[in-house]
Amino acid sequence: MAYHLAARFCKNTVSCKFAKAINFSCLRCNVSTVVSSSFEFPNFKTHNELHEFSINKTDEFWASLAHSRLKWLKSFHTTQQCNMDEGKFAWFFGGQLNIADNCVDRHALVKPDKVALIWEKDEPGNQQLVTYRELQEMTCRIANVLKAHGVQKGDRVAIYMPNSPIAVASMLACVRIGAMHTVVFAGFSTEALAARIQDASCTAVITSDQALRGGKIIELKRTVDAAVAKCPSVKHVFVSQRTGADLPNMPLDLPLDKLMAQACQHSAIEIMESEDPSFMLYTSGSTGKPKGIQHSTAGYLLYASVTHQSVFNVGPDDVYACVADIGWITGHSYVVYGPLANGATTVLFESVPTYPDPGRYWEMVERLQINQFYTAPTAIRLLLKAGDAWPQKYNLSSLKVLGCVGEPLNHEAWHWYNELIGQSKCDLVDTWWQTETGGICITPRPSEAGAEIIAGMPMRPFFGIEPAILDSSQKLLEGNDVIGSLCIKKPWPGIARTIYGDHERYLDTYFRPFPGYYFSGDGAHRHSNGYYQVTGRTDDVINVSGHRLGTAEVEDAINEHAAVAESAVIGIPHPIKGEGIYAFLVLKDDVVLDQVCIVSEVNSLVSTAIAKFAVPDHILIVPALPKTRSGKIMRRILRKLVAGETEFGDVSTLADPSIVQVIARLHLDSNRNLM
Ligand code: WTA
Repeated sequence: MAYHLAARFCKNTVSCKFAKAINFSCLRCNVSTVVSSSFEFPNFKTHNELHEFSINKTDEFWASLAHSRLKWLKSFHTTQQCNMDEGKFAWFFGGQLNIADNCVDRHALVKPDKVALIWEKDEPGNQQLVTYRELQEMTCRIANVLKAHGVQKGDRVAIYMPNSPIAVASMLACVRIGAMHTVVFAGFSTEALAARIQDASCTAVITSDQALRGGKIIELKRTVDAAVAKCPSVKHVFVSQRTGADLPNMPLDLPLDKLMAQACQHSAIEIMESEDPSFMLYTSGSTGKPKGIQHSTAGYLLYASVTHQSVFNVGPDDVYACVADIGWITGHSYVVYGPLANGATTVLFESVPTYPDPGRYWEMVERLQINQFYTAPTAIRLLLKAGDAWPQKYNLSSLKVLGCVGEPLNHEAWHWYNELIGQSKCDLVDTWWQTETGGICITPRPSEAGAEIIAGMPMRPFFGIEPAILDSSQKLLEGNDVIGSLCIKKPWPGIARTIYGDHERYLDTYFRPFPGYYFSGDGAHRHSNGYYQVTGRTDDVINVSGHRLGTAEVEDAINEHAAVAESAVIGIPHPIKGEGIYAFLVLKDDVVLDQVCIVSEVNSLVSTAIAKFAVPDHILIVPALPKTRSGKIMRRILRKLVAGETEFGDVSTLADPSIVQVIARLHLDSNRNLM
């Protein structure tokens, strides 16, 4: 018996005409006859054998999957040309393909009536089904509208929309014509949106009149209007109707739904080279300016497809739900590209976990008969707090796999998720990955049949992933029970190829800190059993509800306040959000404003400059910050002080060591229950 990546849920393994030639997956028997079947692959009896092969014969491993899982317009001639030292990555060289062809057309051809998307609208109990044929039609119509308005291969298009079929079709329309989309989370402010549009020099924006989230109206179009006023590169704003609100017409506006109705429902695909960029997505780093992480075409798609299928064990008739927003990488890889490349049925969740009540997810699981459910630890903690009665009201027996991503899943939340939601019979996959990795890299599944899953860690590297832990002197830590910086040694197809417009920053951030390795920015503990636990960021990045924020980004926003001389921001433990934000402010000498007023103005500045989720949980006004003589803010000391520690280590490098005790006293006096 061969080991199949998707063996457990496949009903067609025996009858699949390609099963003998390709022992990886029977995906092709549900998908399309155009998938290449020429590649011979040796039999593997166990997961471990296959995993070993993926590490020792990485090229053969990925080449075979690239042949069997993707539809190529022209086959590749070189599997990879990568160099970790130089941060250079090229996979499936010489190959040509199109992502929309792979995610929509090939499925629409053989199973047009299969449901591609289940749109779980904000209005409770109000789902809408979109088949592969319908998704193809929508995608082609939008592609034609974009082309008719001058959008070409290589152009950048910003998408600022709620989770909706039209947003997914817009993403697919971009990749269909070879334009790079940059989806901006619809909770970002005008300034954050404008900064992204400017950095990417987007020529078009696709948006909706309004969004609905938890019954509340979000003024997307108004935010776009204000942003676009600062973005001369934008030539067109395509506006789709979500609520039908009567909004003022701006000179660049075009009615997307109307233009789609007039456009042809067929559209040619752009032939893309494997390494052509597919999209970019902004994420925060340790400096003030968010970085446009740019992904490839073939490598990204293959990695999203393989990880989606095998981590979640998605079968042909399953209903798979990842409740992430398309504005984050999880939405890209595991709501849109991975599931659609696999011809799956993917749920598109527009709402919030507590609307109309904290039973929303579980009522949806029962109603839609969801088999795989993927969410974020912050949502699990929030729902845990709401009590057991909510999940107990619903029949959750359809669930087979539960997943989470974004931050560590603490033990209490893990057990609640496993026992209350999974009823102790689901695989619970705590998956570790990043915007930059393109897809899941460390995950308890796939693994040997029946292998243990331990709470609180992602445990095992995925196929082809070789994690490494290094210490601060760049020394590789061998053996088990070691703690250090989490790196990855071997190139994998999903790795981001650059930071848009700033390749030096890409090299500085990911490849220069530990030469020869990709550096994740996270710390990790390889336990005595060899399993990996991710301990959190080692850089100045805060993870609020799974959303990455640079301390500098928040400080820049705070420092805009006329009364603020400088500020320092740190992450602090938060029971629901994982991390909250604590901001220390130093005011200018001549400030006469009331402190309460300053705090409220600072909050509103951050909300305007970034987003609501970036607003500090605590603000403390202090006379000075702990700084080295060279002026570097020692956030480490602030973190210790807030954690209640009284030992601050060596403070002799500080310009004024006495300030530490002053801040500690003010912090205690502020009389807030932080922990
Ligand atoms: C954190 C999200 C612990 C980590 C896909 C990483 C995690 C950052 C886990 C990436 C996990 C993600 N356990 N920490 N299972 N998953 N993280 O780019 O700090 O939004 O670097 O990608 O989230 O966040 P990003």
